[in-house]
Amino acid sequence: MNFTAPLPRPGIMDIAAYVGGEAKLPGVARVMKLSANEGALGPSPKAVAAYQAMSNDIHRYPDGGHSHLRHALAERWGLEFERIVCGNGSDDILQMLTRAYAGPGDEVLYTEHGFAIYKIAAQSSGATPVEAKERDLTASVDTLLAAVTAKTRIVFLANPNNPTGTYLSSDEVRRLHAGLPKNVLLVLDAAYAEFVSRNDYDDGSALVREFDNVVMTRTFSKIFGLGGLRLGWGYFPPAIADVLNRIRGPFNVASPALAAGVAALQDREFMELARRHNDYWHDWFAQEINKLGLSAPARAVGNFLLVGFPGKVPTVDAFLRGKGIIVRNVASYGLPDHLRITIGAEDEMRLVAAALREFVGG
Ligand SMILES: Cc1ncc(COP(=O)(O)O)c(C=O)c1O
Repeated sequence: MNFTAPLPRPGIMDIAAYVGGEAKLPGVARVMKLSANEGALGPSPKAVAAYQAMSNDIHRYPDGGHSHLRHALAERWGLEFERIVCGNGSDDILQMLTRAYAGPGDEVLYTEHGFAIYKIAAQSSGATPVEAKERDLTASVDTLLAAVTAKTRIVFLANPNNPTGTYLSSDEVRRLHAGLPKNVLLVLDAAYAEFVSRNDYDDGSALVREFDNVVMTRTFSKIFGLGGLRLGWGYFPPAIADVLNRIRGPFNVASPALAAGVAALQDREFMELARRHNDYWHDWFAQEINKLGLSAPARAVGNFLLVGFPGKVPTVDAFLRGKGIIVRNVASYGLPDHLRITIGAEDEMRLVAAALREFVGG
C-alpha cells in the first residue's frame, strides 16, 4: 500500500499559472478595464441575438463537428472547410497542438516576450520550453533559427505578438519557415490579424496551404469581442487537422458560442466599425504617448500599445488605479519597465491619455 497523496506528472508544479487581466478595483464604481485586449465596442448585436436565441436549446449537445461555423469561416476568409478545426478559445487549439506534437525530452521554442500560453502549454505536455532573444522587442528569425536543435518540435510565433504589438513581415515568416527542419511544426498565432492592415503582413494561411508543417490560429476574442464565450479556430494541413480531431474534446465548443460566431462573421459592418475604431484610436494614442515623451514600439499593431515607463511602473500603475484605470503589468513577460494598455472606447482613451499627461506633468 502507498499512502502518499496523488502527485501530478513531473514539471506540472513548475508551471506559473496564467493570470488574466484584472477587472476590479475595491471601492471604484466605474472601472476602466484596459488590461485584457478585449473588443473596445463590445460584441456585435447580431452575435448577442444569436447567442440569446440558443437559450431554449441548451439541453442539446452542440454540433461536435462545428460544421455551420466552419462553413461560415471558410466562406468569410476564403479557406477550405476540411482544414478548419474550432476550439474553446484559441488557447484550446494551442494546448492541443502542444499535447499532440511535443512531450518529455522535446523542446518547444518561442520568443523572449512571446505570448504566455506557449510556455504553459510546453510545461503541461512535459516538454522543455526554450526562449529565443528578441531584437527591439520584435521576434528575430535569426535567434529563433539559432535556437533550433534536434529536439525542437514546435516553434510558436504570435504574429503580431502580445504584449509587444510587433510583427514579422510575410517575407520574414517565410524565411523562418524555410530555415526550419521539415519535422518542426511552425505555429503562427494570428489572434490579432483582423486589426492589421499593413502591406507587408499576412496571417500565414498561404503558408499553411503550401506546407505540411505550418498551422495558423485565430480567435473570436479580439476584434469580434466574444472573449467570454471562448471561441477560437485554426487552419491546418489535413493531416494535422486529423490529429486534432482525434484528441479534442468531442463537444469542445458550446452551442451558444458556435451560433454567436456565425452571426459575428456575417456582421461585416460591425467588424469594419471595430477595425476603424481601432485604427483611429491606436494611432491617436501612440501620438499622445509620443507627445508625452514616452515610448512605444515603432510600427506596433493590434488593439493595445506597450508603453515604456523605465523605473516607474509601480507608481504609474498605482496612479492609474487611483483613477479607476486598470492596465496590464507585463513583468511576467520579462518587461518590468512597461505597461500594456488596451485600446478601449473613445472616453476611455481620452481619460487614460489625460491621466498619463497628469502623471508626466506632475
Ligand atoms: C497572441 C494571443 N494568442 C492567443 C490568445 C488566446 O485567445 P483566446 O483563447 O481567447 O482565443 C491571446 C489572448 O490574449 C493572445 O494574445
